[in-house]
Amino acid sequence: MSKQRAFLKWAGGKYELVETIRQYLPKGEQLIEPFIGAGSVFLNSNYKSYILADINRDLIELFNLLKSSSDQFIHDLSLLFTPQNNQPDAYYQLRDIFNNSTDQYQRSLLFVYLNRHCYNGLCRYNSGGGFNVPFGRYKTIYFPEKELYFFAEKAQAAEFICGSYQEVMEKAKADSVIYCDPPYLSLSTTSGFTAYYSNVFGLEEHRKLSLLAEKMAYQKNIPVLISNHDTEYTRELYKNASSLYQAEMRRSISCAGESRKKIDEILALYQKA
Ligand SMILES: C[S@@+](CC[C@H](N)C(=O)[O-])C[C@H]1O[C@@H](n2cnc3c(N)ncnc32)[C@H](O)[C@@H]1O
Repeated sequence: MSKQRAFLKWAGGKYELVETIRQYLPKGEQLIEPFIGAGSVFLNSNYKSYILADINRDLIELFNLLKSSSDQFIHDLSLLFTPQNNQPDAYYQLRDIFNNSTDQYQRSLLFVYLNRHCYNGLCRYNSGGGFNVPFGRYKTIYFPEKELYFFAEKAQAAEFICGSYQEVMEKAKADSVIYCDPPYLSLSTTSGFTAYYSNVFGLEEHRKLSLLAEKMAYQKNIPVLISNHDTEYTRELYKNASSLYQAEMRRSISCAGESRKKIDEILALYQKA
């Protein structure tokens, strides 16, 4: 199976690791991904149906529009990818339009434009909910037409939900399996948090997620695979998993206050024997 790229750039995207993750994804009819992000694992897996969720409303509205009106949406999006729009003035004007718009179609188009033109493909909002990532200064911009069409096609088998992981995991049925890719636990576990959207996913959330995985697997017989950085703390966090696997990262990552280093990924599988 060849590897498919997501059409969005996304912090923590799993493109580099999909072959390894695919090896350990439990078998079933339906895959539930409560932290879908740009969807690299969804795009590179093969289940009959999917429930894909995220707390980021812009992301989920965009996926729903792409699913229902792919041709029109991709055409309209292509009109935003011009050399003129790859200039700081145009970028900040379009960012203002996004922040002041309540029209979902317009917001979704601009969300993809911003993702591809902003600094490092980051997705960050201020406390008022305004997207505040600066201009990215890329020499050339790639229009991910092929990737958009692939996503739209595969999305026909998916239901997209905006919500927190607890409510989404509760939707599991007897033939569902769950893959969780939560925001990484910060490498310095004392300050441990990673901010996504206006939501902070800290130590306490990671602990709750691991307990929920135990409950789903051992009481309800729904297998759950979770990925995270491989650290002493995450090994402790996932100590009740039925298996722990390590996936080697090829690239180094940079972390606030620390130099670039290579951190492997841990995959914790919760599955009833
Ligand atoms: C590491 S990213 C997922 C990356 C994705 N697997 C990929 O390959 O692109 C984590 C995602 O979790 C979402 N998120 C943060 N807190 C959440 C919560 N409480 N419930 C559901 N999703 C959440 C973020 O919006 C973000 O998209």
